[in-house]
Amino acid sequence: MNKAIFNKVNFHKTVMLTAYDYPTAVLVARAGVDMILVGDSLANVVLGLDATTQIGMDEMMHHARAVCRGAGQVPVVADMPFEAYQPEGADAVRHARRLIEAGCAAVKVEWFAGIEAVIRLLRADGIEVMGHAGLTPQTAVDFKVQGRDAASAAAILEQARAMAAAGCFAVVLECVPEGLAREITGALKVPTIGIGAGKFCDGQVLVLHDMLGLNDRKVPRFVKKYADASGLILNAVRQYKEEVISGKFPAPEHTFH
Ligand code: KIV
Repeated sequence: MNKAIFNKVNFHKTVMLTAYDYPTAVLVARAGVDMILVGDSLANVVLGLDATTQIGMDEMMHHARAVCRGAGQVPVVADMPFEAYQPEGADAVRHARRLIEAGCAAVKVEWFAGIEAVIRLLRADGIEVMGHAGLTPQTAVDFKVQGRDAASAAAILEQARAMAAAGCFAVVLECVPEGLAREITGALKVPTIGIGAGKFCDGQVLVLHDMLGLNDRKVPRFVKKYADASGLILNAVRQYKEEVISGKFPAPEHTFH
């Protein structure tokens, strides 16, 4: 793990994106991101499932290995699938170790009551851990902005603090008001990485398929679409179909004589 990029003192904004396979990891790394996340959003955006809890260690290992092959020197963080540390952190160290042995630099865990003990166990085994607070999809009931009232804002601040105190090197803040993310960023000694948390976090992360426009499901308002990859793929495939039917493809230059 390149510690320099997690130094809050000399900090440039950390740029993190998800990737789930070899070719996207190669491209994301080549574009110069600081960290790649193999998120359990894999379930939704790649595997067509409804919830992140529907994937387990086998799926995560399969995709994490491919991403690590493509990531080169860029540190890869893998989400701990829900089943890998629930209930109550059972088997968390064994599962996290598998991800580290596959080439990941760290694992990410979502907040739930008691997660500090799991983080301490992982840290005692030398495993780097990233925390995740705010909207935590593995246990969320309401998929909406979190921390809008004073009590829940204070709870999220405490959760982020507790995860940092337990040894997380950074904390993802998902879907919280910008003011709260700013307060948490000021309060923590470790960097915050925002997603739907405004501009005052120490870094930003997005789901690759959402920002590329490669996701035909509704994306959250906080996503900026930087490309229309669906349109690009659709046009290419339609053109291929037309040319096969019309006989334009394969042309002489694609043919052995
Ligand atoms: O699974 C994921 O992609 C994530 C990001 C939303 C941070 O956890």
